[in-house]
Amino acid sequence: MKILLVGSGGREHALALGLRADKSCTELHAAPGNPGIASLATLHPVAITDNNAILKLAQQLAVDLVVVGPEVPLVNGVSDALRDAGFAVFGPSKAAAQLEGSKDFAKKVMRDAGVPTARSFTCTEQSEIEMALDTFGAPYVVKDDGLAAGKGVVVTNDRQAALDHALACSRVVIEEYLAGPEISLFGISDGRNILPMQPAQDFKRAYDGDEGPNTGGMGAYSPLPWAPDDIVEETYEKVLAPMIAEMAARGTPFVGLLYAGLALTDDGIRVIEFNARFGDPETQVLIPRLITPLATLLYNAATDSLDDAVLHWRDESAVTVVLAAQGYPESPKTGAAISSIPAIDKSQVFHAGTSDSSGALLSTGGRVLTVTGTGADLTEARDRAYRAISQIELEGSFYRSDIALNASVAEKGN
Ligand code: AMP
Ligand code: GLY
Repeated sequence: MKILLVGSGGREHALALGLRADKSCTELHAAPGNPGIASLATLHPVAITDNNAILKLAQQLAVDLVVVGPEVPLVNGVSDALRDAGFAVFGPSKAAAQLEGSKDFAKKVMRDAGVPTARSFTCTEQSEIEMALDTFGAPYVVKDDGLAAGKGVVVTNDRQAALDHALACSRVVIEEYLAGPEISLFGISDGRNILPMQPAQDFKRAYDGDEGPNTGGMGAYSPLPWAPDDIVEETYEKVLAPMIAEMAARGTPFVGLLYAGLALTDDGIRVIEFNARFGDPETQVLIPRLITPLATLLYNAATDSLDDAVLHWRDESAVTVVLAAQGYPESPKTGAAISSIPAIDKSQVFHAGTSDSSGALLSTGGRVLTVTGTGADLTEARDRAYRAISQIELEGSFYRSDIALNASVAEKGN
């Protein structure tokens, strides 16, 4: 099977590793990929925003499957363009990707599907905004309705800051604050069936102790030893299966990866958000743990054939830590040289924002590398991830030192 993978981040590097490990993948191509992916796939310099160029490339290569990593091409309808031309695509249509592209749409589908989520109002006028803020009170949760690359959500006790953010967006969803630990739980769907993956936890704030600005994610781990035993089953029954049934009933089946961001509140699980693609950096801990051959799995999802599929997982823990550029997330410094990458047993360095077009390996983005360690438990996995990341030099860069720390301490105490 020939596969085209769209994207260039750490998530795509992890997917490339998973796809390549499946014997049924005979050729892997990436558009545009990155220097890390280059050791696993043939790279093609195509912009992820250019649907026509991606379609042309798929046609030239005569691939059997296209796997779309990031949300932007999905929301732009690249899956529709490819499917119309006869390709098997892992990634939802433009209509189904609205679960990520519009918070208001996601709320409507959740309401119709009976999926538990925060109560909310969608507002455009200042009077509606103020009424919604005062209905729920502090902490205020204000979400830009559209895609905002992780910058659309403000959670604050400051009513004026909440109002300012709301007025800066053309349409906002204002919702009640959900208290409780957050987890990410993904499902792989063929439009009718959905296979829940193992849960992961992501660290969204830039600095240790959950301080600092929100980011795309500074690290992640899986499994979650502290989570309820039935979390996967419960999320399947209350969230993933009803969403897939509702999307199919609307005539816009969701084929691809449905990302449920959940809060585990005292009143039970609640959906914080949906994404229409694999999470980054959660994928960098899930793929190393997944035994089920990835290329076959995603092909079966893309061709409505998941009826008999089952996921198998290694009884191992994985921890990933993001190496971020100086100034991330506000104004990341790019173009700095990255030192050689250490080879440490059971660790894997995924490229996220790098380029080697000038000969040397340079940083090109805010999140530069993601370093995953695996081990018998979270402590061992953390040790390997941190041993590897501490040996990488990139001027001004930083990483959180507390990824999976509390969970690993609690696990040892059990
Ligand atoms: P989102 O982009 O929707 O995931 O939101 C970014 C972050 O804002 C989430 O990871 C949460 O930490 C926080 N957040 C979003 N919605 C809520 C909510 N209703 N209650 C509490 N925190 C929230
Ligand atoms: N790690 C959060 C996301 O992928 O949206």
